[in-house]
Amino acid sequence: MTVLHIGEINDVEDGHALVVPPEQTGHDQAIAVFRQGEEFFAVDDVCTHLGASLGKEGRRSCADGVVTCWLHKGTFDVRTGEAVNYPARGRLGVHEVELRGGEIWLSVR
Ligand code: FES
Repeated sequence: MTVLHIGEINDVEDGHALVVPPEQTGHDQAIAVFRQGEEFFAVDDVCTHLGASLGKEGRRSCADGVVTCWLHKGTFDVRTGEAVNYPARGRLGVHEVELRGGEIWLSVR
């Protein structure tokens, strides 16, 4: 398992994401780390419908534990990665996030 420091808590607005590219993690795709209040959750950053980035920069796409894809409005549970509403389907890969002081650490599964 790869564990890396990816940023600072105060750099991510509530409902927004920090997208970590595969070159940084060694994972086969980008990972979106969403802030939900004081908690952070990490899922694969590729919508299971047509592959849009769920953590697209500048978009507030996570609310009440649900991530909404900007492209066709499919939704996913940010904690489990499960698809909630069509046209999202299947499940996103999930990863662990640990907060250490003001730092965000990602464990890639
Ligand atoms: S690409 Fe995400 S819902 Fe269509």
